[in-house]
Amino acid sequence: MTPDLDERAAAILRANDRGGYTVPTAGLYPYQWNWDSGLAALGFAQFDLDRAWRELETLAEAAWPNGMWPHIVFRADDPDYFPGPSVWDAGGEAAFPSSGVSQPPVAISMARLLYERDPEFGRPRLAALMPKLLAWRDWFRRDRAGHGGAILITHPWESGRDNAPDWDAALANVSAEGVGPYTRRDTAHVDPAMRPTRAEYDRYIALVSWGRAAGWDTGRIAREGPFAVADPATTFILMRADRDLMALAEALGEAEAARRIAADLDRAGDAAAALWSDALGAYVARDERTGRQADCISSAAFLAWYGGMRDPNREGRLMTTLRAVLQAAPRALPSLDPRDPRFDARRYWRGPVWAFINWMVARGLAEAGHHAEAARLRADTRALIEGAGFCEYFDPTDGSGAGGREFSWTAAVWLAWASPAHEEG
Ligand code: GLC
Repeated sequence: MTPDLDERAAAILRANDRGGYTVPTAGLYPYQWNWDSGLAALGFAQFDLDRAWRELETLAEAAWPNGMWPHIVFRADDPDYFPGPSVWDAGGEAAFPSSGVSQPPVAISMARLLYERDPEFGRPRLAALMPKLLAWRDWFRRDRAGHGGAILITHPWESGRDNAPDWDAALANVSAEGVGPYTRRDTAHVDPAMRPTRAEYDRYIALVSWGRAAGWDTGRIAREGPFAVADPATTFILMRADRDLMALAEALGEAEAARRIAADLDRAGDAAAALWSDALGAYVARDERTGRQADCISSAAFLAWYGGMRDPNREGRLMTTLRAVLQAAPRALPSLDPRDPRFDARRYWRGPVWAFINWMVARGLAEAGHHAEAARLRADTRALIEGAGFCEYFDPTDGSGAGGREFSWTAAVWLAWASPAHEEG
Protein backbone atom coordinates (compact mmCIF):
# COMPACT_ATOMS: atom_id res chain seq x y z
CA MET A 1 0.00 0.00 0.00
CA THR A 2 2.80 2.38 0.81
CA PRO A 3 5.80 0.91 -0.98
CA ASP A 4 7.24 4.40 -1.30
CA LEU A 5 7.54 4.61 2.47
CA ASP A 6 9.15 1.16 2.59
CA GLU A 7 11.67 2.38 0.04
CA ARG A 8 12.27 5.62 1.88
CA ALA A 9 12.83 3.76 5.14
CA ALA A 10 15.43 1.51 3.55
CA ALA A 11 17.05 4.55 1.93
CA ILE A 12 17.33 6.26 5.32
CA LEU A 13 19.15 3.28 6.80
CA ARG A 14 21.49 3.19 3.82
CA ALA A 15 22.11 6.93 4.02
CA ASN A 16 22.85 6.74 7.75
CA ASP A 17 25.27 3.84 7.17
CA ARG A 18 28.84 4.98 7.83
CA GLY A 19 30.40 1.73 6.63
CA GLY A 20 29.35 -1.13 8.90
CA TYR A 21 27.69 1.02 11.51
CA THR A 22 24.72 3.33 11.40
CA VAL A 23 24.33 6.79 12.93
CA PRO A 24 20.91 7.61 14.48
CA THR A 25 20.64 10.65 12.20
CA ALA A 26 23.15 12.89 10.47
CA GLY A 27 24.16 16.04 12.35
CA LEU A 28 22.50 15.73 15.73
CA TYR A 29 23.94 12.26 16.49
CA PRO A 30 27.07 11.64 14.39
CA TYR A 31 28.32 8.45 16.11
CA GLN A 32 27.23 4.88 16.73
CA TRP A 33 24.70 4.70 19.56
CA ASN A 34 24.08 1.42 21.31
CA TRP A 35 20.34 0.74 21.34
CA ASP A 36 19.89 2.69 18.11
CA SER A 37 22.28 0.24 16.48
CA GLY A 38 20.33 -2.72 17.81
CA LEU A 39 17.27 -1.31 16.11
CA ALA A 40 19.15 -0.45 12.93
CA ALA A 41 20.09 -4.15 12.78
CA LEU A 42 16.39 -4.99 12.99
CA GLY A 43 15.72 -2.66 10.06
CA PHE A 44 18.56 -3.97 7.90
CA ALA A 45 17.40 -7.51 8.60
CA GLN A 46 14.32 -6.79 6.50
CA PHE A 47 16.38 -6.46 3.33
CA ASP A 48 20.06 -7.27 4.02
CA LEU A 49 20.72 -9.85 6.72
CA ASP A 50 24.48 -9.74 6.28
CA ARG A 51 24.48 -5.98 6.91
CA ALA A 52 22.22 -6.49 9.92
CA TRP A 53 24.75 -8.83 11.55
CA ARG A 54 27.51 -6.38 10.70
CA GLU A 55 25.74 -3.70 12.73
CA LEU A 56 25.82 -5.88 15.85
CA GLU A 57 29.40 -6.87 15.14
CA THR A 58 30.66 -3.30 14.89
CA LEU A 59 28.86 -2.42 18.10
CA ALA A 60 30.43 -5.42 19.82
CA GLU A 61 33.89 -4.38 18.61
CA ALA A 62 33.73 -1.48 21.07
CA ALA A 63 32.97 -3.69 24.09
CA TRP A 64 35.09 -3.00 27.15
CA PRO A 65 37.33 -5.65 28.75
CA ASN A 66 34.90 -5.71 31.71
CA GLY A 67 32.07 -6.77 29.37
CA MET A 68 30.22 -3.45 29.02
CA TRP A 69 29.05 -2.33 25.60
CA PRO A 70 29.24 1.48 25.75
CA HIS A 71 26.38 3.75 24.80
CA ILE A 72 28.32 5.78 22.21
CA VAL A 73 31.23 4.54 20.11
CA PHE A 74 33.49 7.32 18.85
CA ARG A 75 35.02 5.90 15.71
CA ALA A 76 35.77 9.30 14.25
CA ASP A 77 35.93 12.63 16.00
CA ASP A 78 33.16 15.07 15.17
CA PRO A 79 33.55 18.54 16.65
CA ASP A 80 29.84 19.11 16.08
CA TYR A 81 28.91 16.82 19.00
CA PHE A 82 29.16 17.51 22.72
CA PRO A 83 30.29 15.81 24.92
CA GLY A 84 32.74 14.06 22.63
CA PRO A 85 35.60 11.61 23.23
CA SER A 86 37.92 14.04 25.00
CA VAL A 87 35.27 14.95 27.57
CA TRP A 88 34.40 11.33 28.33
CA ASP A 89 37.99 10.13 28.19
CA ALA A 90 36.73 6.56 28.37
CA GLY A 91 37.18 3.20 26.71
CA GLY A 92 40.98 3.44 26.91
CA GLU A 93 41.60 -0.31 26.93
CA ALA A 94 38.87 -1.09 24.43
CA ALA A 95 39.27 -0.95 20.67
CA PHE A 96 37.64 2.49 20.36
CA PRO A 97 37.15 5.58 22.48
CA SER A 98 33.62 5.61 23.82
CA SER A 99 31.31 7.01 26.44
CA GLY A 100 31.65 5.53 29.93
CA VAL A 101 28.11 4.22 30.43
CA SER A 102 25.98 1.62 28.67
CA GLN A 103 22.41 1.59 27.33
CA PRO A 104 19.49 -0.88 27.54
CA PRO A 105 20.58 -4.14 25.86
CA VAL A 106 18.10 -4.17 22.99
CA ALA A 107 20.93 -5.39 20.74
CA ILE A 108 21.05 -8.76 22.54
CA SER A 109 17.46 -9.51 21.63
CA MET A 110 18.09 -8.41 18.07
CA ALA A 111 20.74 -11.12 17.78
CA ARG A 112 17.99 -13.66 18.36
CA LEU A 113 15.72 -12.08 15.74
CA LEU A 114 18.54 -12.09 13.21
CA TYR A 115 19.50 -15.66 14.02
CA GLU A 116 15.95 -16.93 13.69
CA ARG A 117 15.48 -15.30 10.30
CA ASP A 118 18.10 -17.68 8.92
CA PRO A 119 19.75 -19.98 11.49
CA GLU A 120 22.11 -21.55 9.02
CA PHE A 121 23.43 -18.21 7.82
CA GLY A 122 23.48 -16.75 11.31
CA ARG A 123 25.13 -19.58 13.21
CA PRO A 124 28.78 -18.69 12.64
CA ARG A 125 28.05 -14.98 13.15
CA LEU A 126 26.24 -15.73 16.40
CA ALA A 127 28.91 -18.11 17.64
CA ALA A 128 31.56 -15.43 17.14
CA LEU A 129 29.45 -12.81 18.90
CA MET A 130 28.31 -15.00 21.77
CA PRO A 131 31.20 -14.41 24.22
CA LYS A 132 30.64 -10.66 24.05
CA LEU A 133 26.86 -10.95 24.30
CA LEU A 134 27.26 -13.08 27.43
CA ALA A 135 29.92 -10.82 28.93
CA TRP A 136 27.63 -7.81 28.51
CA ARG A 137 24.67 -9.38 30.28
CA ASP A 138 27.02 -10.65 33.01
CA TRP A 139 28.30 -7.08 33.40
CA PHE A 140 24.76 -5.78 33.96
CA ARG A 141 24.08 -8.44 36.57
CA ARG A 142 27.40 -7.76 38.31
CA ASP A 143 28.00 -4.01 38.04
CA ARG A 144 24.47 -2.68 37.73
CA ALA A 145 22.43 -4.85 40.12
CA GLY A 146 20.34 -2.82 42.55
CA HIS A 147 17.77 -3.65 45.20
CA GLY A 148 16.02 -6.93 44.37
CA GLY A 149 18.21 -7.28 41.29
CA ALA A 150 16.51 -4.41 39.45
CA ILE A 151 18.99 -2.82 37.05
CA LEU A 152 20.61 0.50 37.92
CA ILE A 153 21.52 3.35 35.68
CA THR A 154 24.34 5.62 36.82
CA HIS A 155 23.60 8.45 34.40
CA PRO A 156 20.26 9.44 32.82
CA TRP A 157 21.91 8.79 29.43
CA GLU A 158 22.44 5.18 30.45
CA SER A 159 18.67 4.68 30.41
CA GLY A 160 18.36 6.06 26.88
CA ARG A 161 15.43 8.11 28.23
CA ASP A 162 17.58 11.10 29.04
CA ASN A 163 15.24 13.63 30.63
CA ALA A 164 12.41 11.36 31.79
CA PRO A 165 10.79 12.60 35.02
CA ASP A 166 11.74 9.19 36.43
CA TRP A 167 15.11 10.71 37.34
CA ASP A 168 14.03 14.17 38.52
CA ALA A 169 14.31 13.58 42.27
CA ALA A 170 17.60 11.66 42.05
CA LEU A 171 19.10 14.19 39.64
CA ALA A 172 18.16 17.06 41.94
CA ASN A 173 20.51 15.50 44.51
CA VAL A 174 23.45 15.69 42.10
CA SER A 175 25.53 18.80 42.58
CA ALA A 176 26.36 20.80 39.47
CA GLU A 177 28.97 22.83 41.30
CA GLY A 178 32.34 22.82 39.62
CA VAL A 179 30.94 22.26 36.13
CA GLY A 180 32.99 24.63 34.02
CA PRO A 181 31.73 26.46 30.95
CA TYR A 182 30.74 24.30 27.99
CA THR A 183 28.82 24.70 24.75
CA ARG A 184 25.91 22.41 24.02
CA ARG A 185 25.65 21.31 20.41
CA ASP A 186 22.24 19.62 20.52
CA THR A 187 20.34 22.91 20.74
CA ALA A 188 22.12 24.11 17.58
CA HIS A 189 20.41 21.27 15.68
CA VAL A 190 16.90 21.30 17.14
CA ASP A 191 14.62 23.70 18.99
CA PRO A 192 15.75 24.02 22.64
CA ALA A 193 12.09 23.60 23.70
CA MET A 194 12.37 19.96 22.60
CA ARG A 195 15.56 19.26 24.55
CA PRO A 196 16.58 18.82 28.21
CA THR A 197 16.95 22.02 30.21
CA ARG A 198 20.21 23.72 31.13
CA ALA A 199 19.91 22.60 34.79
CA GLU A 200 19.54 18.99 33.64
CA TYR A 201 22.45 19.30 31.24
CA ASP A 202 24.76 20.71 33.93
CA ARG A 203 24.08 17.64 36.02
CA TYR A 204 24.64 15.31 33.07
CA ILE A 205 28.08 16.87 32.67
CA ALA A 206 28.78 16.71 36.42
CA LEU A 207 28.09 12.96 36.31
CA VAL A 208 30.46 12.51 33.38
CA SER A 209 33.15 14.33 35.39
CA TRP A 210 32.53 12.08 38.38
CA GLY A 211 32.86 8.93 36.30
CA ARG A 212 36.00 10.18 34.62
CA ALA A 213 37.57 10.98 38.00
CA ALA A 214 36.66 7.45 39.12
CA GLY A 215 38.59 6.08 36.14
CA TRP A 216 35.33 4.68 34.75
CA ASP A 217 35.36 1.88 37.33
CA THR A 218 31.77 0.90 36.54
CA GLY A 219 31.19 -1.16 39.69
CA ARG A 220 32.41 1.62 41.95
CA ILE A 221 30.35 4.23 40.12
CA ALA A 222 27.18 2.21 40.79
CA ARG A 223 28.11 1.69 44.45
CA GLU A 224 29.42 5.15 45.32
CA GLY A 225 28.54 7.60 42.57
CA PRO A 226 26.15 10.51 43.03
CA PHE A 227 23.40 8.95 40.92
CA ALA A 228 22.10 5.36 40.90
CA VAL A 229 18.48 4.67 39.99
CA ALA A 230 16.81 1.36 39.15
CA ASP A 231 15.18 1.75 35.75
CA PRO A 232 12.13 -0.33 34.82
CA ALA A 233 12.94 -0.13 31.09
CA THR A 234 16.51 -1.39 31.46
CA THR A 235 15.37 -4.04 33.93
CA PHE A 236 12.67 -5.39 31.59
CA ILE A 237 14.81 -5.10 28.46
CA LEU A 238 17.55 -7.09 30.21
CA MET A 239 15.03 -9.72 31.29
CA ARG A 240 14.00 -10.01 27.67
CA ALA A 241 17.62 -10.09 26.55
CA ASP A 242 18.29 -12.88 29.04
CA ARG A 243 15.40 -14.98 27.76
CA ASP A 244 16.56 -14.48 24.19
CA LEU A 245 20.17 -15.18 25.05
CA MET A 246 19.20 -18.34 26.92
CA ALA A 247 17.47 -19.60 23.77
CA LEU A 248 20.56 -18.73 21.72
CA ALA A 249 22.88 -20.43 24.21
CA GLU A 250 20.76 -23.55 23.99
CA ALA A 251 20.81 -23.39 20.19
CA LEU A 252 24.61 -23.32 20.30
CA GLY A 253 24.77 -26.06 22.94
CA GLU A 254 26.19 -23.73 25.59
CA ALA A 255 24.50 -25.37 28.56
CA GLU A 256 26.51 -23.69 31.31
CA ALA A 257 25.67 -20.20 30.02
CA ALA A 258 22.00 -21.13 29.70
CA ARG A 259 21.95 -22.34 33.32
CA ARG A 260 23.63 -19.18 34.56
CA ILE A 261 21.06 -17.01 32.83
CA ALA A 262 18.16 -19.16 34.04
CA ALA A 263 19.30 -18.68 37.63
CA ASP A 264 19.09 -14.90 37.21
CA LEU A 265 15.71 -15.10 35.53
CA ASP A 266 14.40 -17.08 38.51
CA ARG A 267 14.85 -13.89 40.52
CA ALA A 268 13.00 -11.65 38.04
CA GLY A 269 10.00 -11.44 40.37
CA ASP A 270 12.11 -9.76 43.10
CA ALA A 271 13.26 -7.07 40.69
CA ALA A 272 9.71 -6.44 39.52
CA ALA A 273 8.53 -6.23 43.15
CA ALA A 274 11.18 -3.58 43.89
CA LEU A 275 9.81 -1.43 41.07
CA TRP A 276 6.09 -1.93 41.59
CA SER A 277 4.10 1.05 42.88
CA ASP A 278 0.78 0.06 44.30
CA ALA A 279 -0.23 3.69 44.53
CA LEU A 280 0.22 4.26 40.78
CA GLY A 281 -0.58 0.76 39.53
CA ALA A 282 2.62 0.75 37.51
CA TYR A 283 6.32 -0.11 37.58
CA VAL A 284 8.37 2.97 38.42
CA ALA A 285 12.00 3.95 38.87
CA ARG A 286 13.55 3.58 42.33
CA ASP A 287 16.37 5.72 43.69
CA GLU A 288 18.95 3.29 45.05
CA ARG A 289 20.42 5.94 47.35
CA THR A 290 17.20 7.01 49.09
CA GLY A 291 15.00 3.97 48.45
CA ARG A 292 12.32 6.32 47.10
CA GLN A 293 10.20 5.42 44.12
CA ALA A 294 9.50 7.92 41.34
CA ASP A 295 6.02 9.40 41.25
CA CYS A 296 5.26 9.19 37.53
CA ILE A 297 3.88 6.74 34.99
CA SER A 298 6.29 6.51 32.07
CA SER A 299 6.02 4.31 28.99
CA ALA A 300 8.82 2.22 30.55
CA ALA A 301 6.25 0.66 32.90
CA PHE A 302 4.53 -1.03 29.97
CA LEU A 303 7.67 -2.90 28.92
CA ALA A 304 6.80 -5.41 31.68
CA TRP A 305 5.10 -7.73 29.21
CA TYR A 306 8.05 -7.50 26.83
CA GLY A 307 10.25 -8.49 29.77
CA GLY A 308 8.04 -11.52 30.38
CA MET A 309 6.25 -10.45 33.58
CA ARG A 310 2.94 -12.28 33.90
CA ASP A 311 1.71 -11.73 37.46
CA PRO A 312 -2.10 -11.80 37.10
CA ASN A 313 -2.75 -9.24 39.84
CA ARG A 314 -0.03 -6.78 39.01
CA GLU A 315 -0.24 -7.04 35.24
CA GLY A 316 -4.03 -6.81 35.55
CA ARG A 317 -3.68 -3.47 37.28
CA LEU A 318 -0.98 -2.42 34.86
CA MET A 319 -3.45 -3.03 32.02
CA THR A 320 -5.99 -0.77 33.72
CA THR A 321 -3.30 1.91 33.93
CA LEU A 322 -2.30 1.40 30.29
CA ARG A 323 -5.92 1.76 29.15
CA ALA A 324 -6.23 5.03 31.05
CA VAL A 325 -3.03 6.36 29.46
CA LEU A 326 -4.18 5.26 25.99
CA GLN A 327 -7.48 6.99 26.53
CA ALA A 328 -5.75 10.21 27.51
CA ALA A 329 -3.46 10.18 24.45
CA PRO A 330 -4.89 10.93 20.99
CA ARG A 331 -1.74 9.22 19.62
CA ALA A 332 -0.06 6.58 21.69
CA LEU A 333 2.13 5.66 23.47
CA PRO A 334 3.18 8.90 25.20
CA SER A 335 6.43 8.62 27.13
CA LEU A 336 4.71 10.24 30.12
CA ASP A 337 1.10 9.92 31.24
CA PRO A 338 -0.70 12.95 29.71
CA ARG A 339 -2.59 13.40 33.01
CA ASP A 340 0.72 14.17 34.76
CA PRO A 341 1.28 17.91 35.29
CA ARG A 342 4.86 17.48 34.01
CA PHE A 343 3.61 16.18 30.66
CA ASP A 344 5.19 18.19 27.84
CA ALA A 345 4.07 17.04 24.38
CA ARG A 346 7.31 17.95 22.58
CA ARG A 347 10.03 17.79 25.20
CA TYR A 348 11.83 14.58 24.46
CA TRP A 349 11.16 11.89 27.11
CA ARG A 350 8.57 13.94 29.01
CA GLY A 351 5.62 13.29 26.71
CA PRO A 352 6.43 12.45 23.06
CA VAL A 353 5.77 9.10 21.38
CA TRP A 354 8.78 7.00 20.33
CA ALA A 355 8.06 4.47 17.58
CA PHE A 356 10.56 1.87 18.79
CA ILE A 357 9.15 1.92 22.33
CA ASN A 358 5.74 1.27 20.79
CA TRP A 359 7.18 -1.70 18.94
CA MET A 360 8.67 -3.25 22.06
CA VAL A 361 5.60 -2.61 24.20
CA ALA A 362 3.32 -3.99 21.49
CA ARG A 363 5.43 -7.14 21.08
CA GLY A 364 5.07 -7.83 24.78
CA LEU A 365 1.35 -7.10 24.73
CA ALA A 366 0.74 -9.39 21.75
CA GLU A 367 2.74 -12.20 23.34
CA ALA A 368 0.62 -11.87 26.49
CA GLY A 369 -2.57 -12.02 24.40
CA HIS A 370 -3.49 -8.33 24.60
CA HIS A 371 -4.07 -7.98 20.90
CA ALA A 372 -6.37 -4.96 20.91
CA GLU A 373 -3.84 -2.75 22.69
CA ALA A 374 -0.99 -4.06 20.53
CA ALA A 375 -3.01 -3.23 17.41
CA ARG A 376 -3.74 0.28 18.70
CA LEU A 377 0.00 0.93 19.15
CA ARG A 378 0.78 -0.35 15.68
CA ALA A 379 -1.98 1.65 14.02
CA ASP A 380 -0.90 4.81 15.82
CA THR A 381 2.75 4.28 14.93
CA ARG A 382 1.86 3.78 11.29
CA ALA A 383 -0.33 6.88 11.19
CA LEU A 384 2.34 9.00 12.89
CA ILE A 385 5.01 7.99 10.38
CA GLU A 386 2.65 8.35 7.42
CA GLY A 387 1.69 11.80 8.63
CA ALA A 388 5.00 13.26 9.76
CA GLY A 389 7.75 11.09 8.27
CA PHE A 390 10.60 9.26 9.92
CA CYS A 391 11.11 11.66 12.81
CA GLU A 392 13.03 10.95 15.99
CA TYR A 393 9.76 11.10 17.98
CA PHE A 394 6.23 12.50 17.74
CA ASP A 395 3.85 14.81 19.56
CA PRO A 396 1.03 12.67 21.01
CA THR A 397 -1.46 15.53 20.97
CA ASP A 398 -1.33 16.57 17.30
CA GLY A 399 0.82 13.90 15.67
CA SER A 400 3.49 16.30 14.42
CA GLY A 401 7.08 15.09 14.24
CA ALA A 402 9.85 16.40 16.49
CA GLY A 403 13.59 16.16 17.13
CA GLY A 404 15.87 14.87 14.38
CA ARG A 405 14.60 13.84 10.93
CA GLU A 406 15.40 10.79 8.76
CA PHE A 407 15.93 8.78 11.91
CA SER A 408 17.32 5.25 11.75
CA TRP A 409 15.21 3.63 14.45
CA THR A 410 11.96 5.06 13.14
CA ALA A 411 12.83 3.74 9.67
CA ALA A 412 13.75 0.35 11.15
CA VAL A 413 10.53 0.00 13.10
CA TRP A 414 8.55 0.97 10.01
CA LEU A 415 10.21 -1.76 7.95
CA ALA A 416 9.99 -4.43 10.64
CA TRP A 417 6.52 -3.76 11.96
CA ALA A 418 4.55 -0.59 11.28
CA SER A 419 4.49 -0.86 7.47
CA PRO A 420 1.32 -2.38 6.02
CA ALA A 421 3.67 -4.82 4.27
CA HIS A 422 3.68 -6.70 7.58
CA GLU A 423 0.41 -8.46 8.01
CA GLU A 424 1.31 -10.25 11.23
CA GLY A 425 1.54 -7.05 13.30
C1 GLC B 1 19.18 10.55 22.73
C2 GLC B 1 18.15 9.55 23.21
C3 GLC B 1 18.78 8.18 23.29
C4 GLC B 1 19.37 7.82 21.94
C5 GLC B 1 20.29 8.91 21.40
C6 GLC B 1 20.64 8.69 19.94
O1 GLC B 1 20.21 10.71 23.65
O2 GLC B 1 17.56 9.91 24.42
O3 GLC B 1 17.84 7.23 23.67
O4 GLC B 1 20.05 6.62 22.01
O5 GLC B 1 19.67 10.15 21.49
O6 GLC B 1 19.48 8.55 19.16
